[in-house]
Amino acid sequence: MSDNKKTKQRTLGQYMTTEEVALDMCRYFKTDKASWRVFDPTCGDGVLLEAAARVLLEHGIPINKIHLVGFDIDFEMVEKAKARLKKLGSDESPSIELRHCDTLQVLNGGLFATDELALLSNINIVIGNPPYGKNLEVRFFEACDRYFSGRAELVFLLPISFADAISDTAFTLLKGRPLGVTTGHVIVHHYCGKPYTQKRQKESLDQVDGFRVLSGVKLYAVGDGIPPQTGETLKTKPYSSEEYSPGWLPCLRTGDIKKYSYAKGRLWVKYGDHLAHPKELDRFDGPRLFVRRVPIWADKSLGATFIEEVALCAGDVLVIKHATNDPELLRGLCVFLNSPEVSDYIVEQRPSVGHRDSFPKISAKDLARLFRHRIPAPEALRTLAQDYPQKNDKTN
Ligand SMILES: C[S@@+](CC[C@H](N)C(=O)[O-])C[C@H]1O[C@@H](n2cnc3c(N)ncnc32)[C@H](O)[C@@H]1O
Repeated sequence: MSDNKKTKQRTLGQYMTTEEVALDMCRYFKTDKASWRVFDPTCGDGVLLEAAARVLLEHGIPINKIHLVGFDIDFEMVEKAKARLKKLGSDESPSIELRHCDTLQVLNGGLFATDELALLSNINIVIGNPPYGKNLEVRFFEACDRYFSGRAELVFLLPISFADAISDTAFTLLKGRPLGVTTGHVIVHHYCGKPYTQKRQKESLDQVDGFRVLSGVKLYAVGDGIPPQTGETLKTKPYSSEEYSPGWLPCLRTGDIKKYSYAKGRLWVKYGDHLAHPKELDRFDGPRLFVRRVPIWADKSLGATFIEEVALCAGDVLVIKHATNDPELLRGLCVFLNSPEVSDYIVEQRPSVGHRDSFPKISAKDLARLFRHRIPAPEALRTLAQDYPQKNDKTN
């Protein structure tokens, strides 16, 4: 793929739905097929519109009764969709209207979009796989819900994280990674205008009861660090090694951390400016917890351990420090974090974390939310600290 194509793929979210998933999505609509008037707000190369047409043909709807409308912000995509949907036509043609436009602008009251808006007047089926990230999937969902309120049924293919942002919509998890990308997916079925709940997303990362959640060190990222890292840095990994060298520090990764214990020595790092995200070293010193970002699901435990000696941790591990470096409070918190109650709470708040096919990791925000709403009082933490296994509180 050329660099230009890759950039477009990333900025416009051009990850196409497979034909199989597209056909599957069509099965969710309840509206009588004889009356379908289909709209894809981000039609790409037309795979969803084609799938809708094929389903209608299979159900005996005559081709000249098929009505498809598709918009895409990328002119090339619109041309591809035209070529693809042309193949549907035989002697008689379906009605196909494809436009090159910004759908969010159109749906949110684009002043000069009268032509596009006219095409939407009798739509009752909205099918889509909008771009993801920067809340775009939610913005497309909201815009369609509002514009087609009371008159259309909507089926969207969305990232699993949508389930974290919106509740009271019906969604089905897709198994595995049918689109070949790391994000897990859900198929959302919704009647436009039906009330749904937007969950609060922002959680402040301020200290809660003196606890602070910090991230591990990011070793490699092109362009970061001083001097900026290059592709060569990524390939040769000059600042990390599986062998110890004098002055280098141990660095723990998720796999090195268990419930109440850890093993160091698999990775050594030369700490310095060249690291992708240099952090103040004090987060890796003194009493603290290391918490796996991929919990130990079989145990229903976050997999947290208390640590006191100097050791770094990588980005797949979170660090929890306490303002007064109180080891007892930290041990109590560790027992709390390793309890099933905490895993359940995190998944309840952000269901995608529990979807293991796509390896979503817990974040500092998840812990901040937990702290804000569920953290036991300091006296209770001191009592919990008594359950911290005494002997394991060091390298295993
Ligand atoms: C994930 S792709 C899906 C394409 C196709 N519907 C499919 O399912 O394979 C998202 C599409 O949205 C288009 N897009 C991104 N932002 C848009 C916008 N504001 N208005 C219209 N289309 C947009 C991209 O060009 C891309 O083709």
